[in-house]
Amino acid sequence: MIELQNKEYPSVKEMNDEQRIGIVKDIFASVTDKYDFLNRFLSGRRDVAWRKRTVSEMDFIKTYRFLDVATGTGDLALDCANTYPDVNVTGVDFVQDMVDKGIEKVSSQKLDDRVELKWGDATQIEFDDNTFDVTAIAFGIRNIPDKEKALSEMKRVIVDNGQLMVLELTTPEPGFWRNTYSFYLNGVLPKLAKWFTKNPAAYEYLADSIMNFPTRREFLMIMESVGLKNCKAIPLTFGVCTLYIGQK
Ligand SMILES: C[S@@+](CC[C@H](N)C(=O)[O-])C[C@H]1O[C@@H](n2cnc3c(N)ncnc32)[C@H](O)[C@@H]1O
Repeated sequence: MIELQNKEYPSVKEMNDEQRIGIVKDIFASVTDKYDFLNRFLSGRRDVAWRKRTVSEMDFIKTYRFLDVATGTGDLALDCANTYPDVNVTGVDFVQDMVDKGIEKVSSQKLDDRVELKWGDATQIEFDDNTFDVTAIAFGIRNIPDKEKALSEMKRVIVDNGQLMVLELTTPEPGFWRNTYSFYLNGVLPKLAKWFTKNPAAYEYLADSIMNFPTRREFLMIMESVGLKNCKAIPLTFGVCTLYIGQK
């Protein structure tokens, strides 16, 4: 069992889908204030480079619209808007506190005319079919129990030949880097998080959820199972993160 302040909840392997969704909402509502800082600090600013790499792979072909699913505080949405001045960006997330933080960032960068962030669920996307050229989910799919549903919804809202991208924390292949990373995730990271957050259990959940995420081969098969074509995986930073790209 992992302790969450005064609460306790099962490890990822033991929790059912409904419990997991509740826990994910609880965790992100509790870390909102420190979320950006901890992302940069705990990843050594690699998260910034990984999002930039994702944005650099985007191809706008028809509608010049981008959908950022599980946008959190809007970092990927903002990177996209700053990189492609002709593109309109929408970001959705089901934790309103994260969305509110993101909206503050959009305003401070004066991008309100091209970036809209709002509440939305990845497994029930409110937009019509074929609305966006590109959709992406960064560090979000790991937290969604019904990954096929979320990927199908993302596929539905992009145009034919549009891109679906998934950026996610993964484990390196077995060997030195995997052992080092596992030690960092399970031994070091929760202790570091304890100094900065009221809810260090959120970072124990993080380690647990990364270790239980499908392998690269398994995840590519999930992408193909929802009908995506030309699926590929690009390992980043010794494979601690992977960028997956598929096409409709
Ligand atoms: C680790 S954060 C990633 C945020 C952001 N994409 C980034 O790059 O920093 C994961 C986000 O996924 C959101 N999330 C998880 N499941 C979701 C769902 N079913 N629908 C919408 N958002 C979801 C959480 O609320 C949280 O803000």
